Formats: sequence, C-alpha cells, structure tokens
Amino acid sequence: MSGRRIAMVGADALPSAARVHNALLGGARNYRSDRELARQLLALSPTLADRLCARRAFAGRAVRWMLVAGIRQVVDIGAGLPVPGDAHEIAADAAPDAHVLYIDNDPVVVAARLIHGSVSVHADVRNPRCLLRSAAVRGLDLQRPVGLLLTGVLDHIKDSYEVAQILNQLRTATPYGSVLVLSAYADNDEEKTREAVNLYRSRVGPLIGRARDEVASWFAGWELVAPGVSSPQSWRLQSPVPDAHPWEWAAAGLNLPPGHRVAEAGT
Ligand SMILES: C[S@@+](CC[C@H](N)C(=O)[O-])C[C@H]1O[C@@H](n2cnc3c(N)ncnc32)[C@H](O)[C@@H]1O
Repeated sequence: MSGRRIAMVGADALPSAARVHNALLGGARNYRSDRELARQLLALSPTLADRLCARRAFAGRAVRWMLVAGIRQVVDIGAGLPVPGDAHEIAADAAPDAHVLYIDNDPVVVAARLIHGSVSVHADVRNPRCLLRSAAVRGLDLQRPVGLLLTGVLDHIKDSYEVAQILNQLRTATPYGSVLVLSAYADNDEEKTREAVNLYRSRVGPLIGRARDEVASWFAGWELVAPGVSSPQSWRLQSPVPDAHPWEWAAAGLNLPPGHRVAEAGT
C-alpha cells in the first residue's frame, strides 16, 4: 500500500479521543478530522487547551509526589499519545529506577508508545483485573505498591457506579501502599461548555461531568489525601489558584490496611 493511501485513510478517519486530545495540546500525532474537531471545540471553549495543560501539570506533580513517597511502579491508564512531560520523563528525573507502564484501549496509542520506546499495554480500564494481568506480563509486580494514574479517562465511562467498581477492583488487586491519582471532568452548566461537550459526544463518544461528592464517593476504601477532591490548579500547590467553579476535579488516595492512618505520603 502506498504512503499516499495511508495518508488518505488517516485524513478520513473519524476523530478519536486520543488524537483529538493530542491536537488540543498542539501535538502532531493526529489527523485532519481530529484537528478540525479540536478547532471547533476551541471556538466554543477557548480556554480548553489551557485547562488540559493544567490537568497535565497536575498529573506531573502527582507522579513526582508518588515517586518521592517511594512508589517505584507507575501505571498510567488511558495514557493518551506521547507528549512532553509524560510519566517516564518525570521518573527519569525523580526516580530513574522506577518502572513506568502505559495502558490504553486505543491500539494507535499503544503502537505510538511502543515506537517511543515505552512499555505499553493494550487493555480496557473497564476490565481492571484483566488489565493488571496484562500489565503483570509486561513486568508489573503486583506484590509491590503501584501508583495508578487515571487522568482524563474515567470521563469516558457513563456509569458512575461502574467507575466506583473499577476503582474498588484496582484497590483490592494492588497491595497496601499503592496510590490512586485521578482526574474527573466536572459537571458544568455554562452554555458554551455544554455545546462543546455535546459536539464532542456526537463526534467521539461519552464525556461525563461529575459532582464533587460523586468523585469523593469513588474513594471508598481508599484514604483520600489532602487537599481532598480539588481543582487541578490547586492540588498540592503552595499557592493554589482559587477557582469557584472548577471545570475538573483532581484527587489522590492511598490503599492502606483497615484502620491504619499514616502521616501523609510525600510530606
Ligand atoms: C483525553 S485522553 C487523556 C490522556 C492523558 N491521560 C491526559 O490526562 O492527558 C483519554 C485517553 O483514554 C483512553 N481511553 C478511553 N477509554 C478507555 C478505556 N475504557 N480503557 C482504556 N483507555 C481508554 C483514550 O484512548 C485516550 O487515549
């Protein structure tokens, strides 16, 4: 097949969550259809790219925090396409002996990460036990604490109860000392944002906003760490950016033995 034919397939492909996200971040791993949708989304919601960058900054701080706390295995679930500031870059700086694994249900993401030289696994977060088994084949040691990073991925799961079940299964399948870090898109009734969300849903798939209490309830069994469920711009920053109407939630929890509360990891 000629390169020209491949280019046409790419240009004609339907937008995907990973490639649209990459286009919104200014990356080059996307097709014309992804860039066109990104352009329309930005027209409706001009701060969207900045907000995605703030989420990435939160994920970066959270990975550094878990590495400083002693975690040496990081599993980035719904990792998306490679972009600067990914978990393995933070690990190379903060804890070069740490093992970073990327997981996504989009084969394009998995292939791109493999080409990039990362350990990359094709799995679906909706089947956490199978996901962890696949990760174990690629070197994840389930006898040692794991840092689970789920940013921008749970938004694609419609049923909040299913999310709670997934997080509970991840907790019971990983040893004490493991850490969960997640972000969740916040319910937002601003009209332009609603239009952007509806456009995204019509072209890519589900994108679900959650209430703060709903996100807090997902941490049943996990020890939610300070500052609790907050905005990405205020999570563990010395000078948090006040935000009366967060567009997204950010939070982390520890998997601790029952009744065991410790001085907070990384402090
Ligand atoms: C918006 S991107 C987020 C990328 C990155 N985690 C971030 O926060 O910048 C969402 C990613 O989740 C992946 N994804 C969506 N549903 C998934 C599922 N059920 N299991 C695994 N990955 C999923 C998509 O393929 C995409 O790469």
